Amino acid sequence: MKALVCNRFGSPGDCLELVDVALPEPGPGEAVVAVSHVGLNFHDTLVVAGKHVVQPQPPFSPGSEYAGTVLSVGPDVMVPRVGDRVVGNEEYGCARAAVLVRADRVTVLPDDVQEQDAAAILVAYSTAYHALVQRANLRPGETLVVLGAAGGVGSAAVDVGALLGARVIAGASTAERATSALRRGAHETFSYGGDGNVKDAIKRLTGGVGADVVFDPVGGTVAEAAVRAVAWGGRYLVVGFAAGAIPRLALNIPLVKGSSVIGVFLGEFIRRHRALHEENLRTIFAWATAGRLRPHVHGVLPLERGAEALDLLAGGRADGKLLLRVGQSL
Ligand SMILES: NC(=O)c1ccc[n+]([C@@H]2O[C@H](COP(=O)([O-])OP(=O)(O)OC[C@H]3O[C@@H](n4cnc5c(N)ncnc54)[C@H](OP(=O)(O)O)[C@@H]3O)[C@@H](O)[C@H]2O)c1
Repeated sequence: MKALVCNRFGSPGDCLELVDVALPEPGPGEAVVAVSHVGLNFHDTLVVAGKHVVQPQPPFSPGSEYAGTVLSVGPDVMVPRVGDRVVGNEEYGCARAAVLVRADRVTVLPDDVQEQDAAAILVAYSTAYHALVQRANLRPGETLVVLGAAGGVGSAAVDVGALLGARVIAGASTAERATSALRRGAHETFSYGGDGNVKDAIKRLTGGVGADVVFDPVGGTVAEAAVRAVAWGGRYLVVGFAAGAIPRLALNIPLVKGSSVIGVFLGEFIRRHRALHEENLRTIFAWATAGRLRPHVHGVLPLERGAEALDLLAGGRADGKLLLRVGQSL
């Protein structure tokens, strides 16, 4: 079967190639899934570059989420069953025609959710939902500021925030990227051009009060300004550092604002609270089947163009989610 393989850490264009590998066999507690689509995340660019805490030994396949059909299961596995359409996420290893996974890490898809949509939804919307519901306790009528709103998790946070009844203000590095959020559910937008006018923009758009909740997958120079633009009693969600630098925070800011700085870690949440994650997914997929949520997709490329797709993500040039189409018949 075909697999996109990273032979050494580096930039995607230099270190990825499409090769033939053996189809895996499931052991006890395992399932083999024929992959139809792979969802790409910024995380994958860090793993390929060797800059993530997760450092697999090359050769390995990148790709941290997949959707497809169960091809075979281990002798003791009752769920999922062969033929089930499923979705799942792993630290890496999904950009190949079939993945060998632990059966208890797989979610069976509702009938009316397409596999391409599922691969675009799983990580981004689970992160946004967990962040806004379990971590921030976002309430209807509150003001939510989403940074990096044109990206994968950012665009999902715009959708989820609007569906939860918040007033959503979407920020991105250019006005054009921010404006696309209006088509999804954002009420207002601003651009931050890579630096410091975040605080002024948020204060202006909230009548000087500040944001009840800030969702920040960007980090870097915009983060401190965003922390300073949180309202009294507000919550700043630490989601990621796509800009590269991990910001340092002066602790006087949460003190004077009575605010909270809250970490979000989807992978650990899933490991510790699998049942609650599945409950979150049921809500997210119900929104999708009702047409209330449509993942914002930049493009769907064939598996062999995986390096190109990861380069787009690494350069912050994707507007929405990037997917790889696999669908090799096995
Ligand atoms: N905590 C968790 O559980 C969790 C889960 C999923 C993802 N994440 C993290 O969230 C972040 C975003 O992930 P994603 O998959 O949504 O990525 P993405 O689609 O590439 O979006 C990242 C956004 O960050 C902004 N950005 C600013 N500087 C950038 C740079 N130098 N390179 C790339 N992007 C830059 C870009 O928007 P603008 O240019 O408009 O600012 C871009 O839209 C990553 O750090 C990821 O690791 C965390």
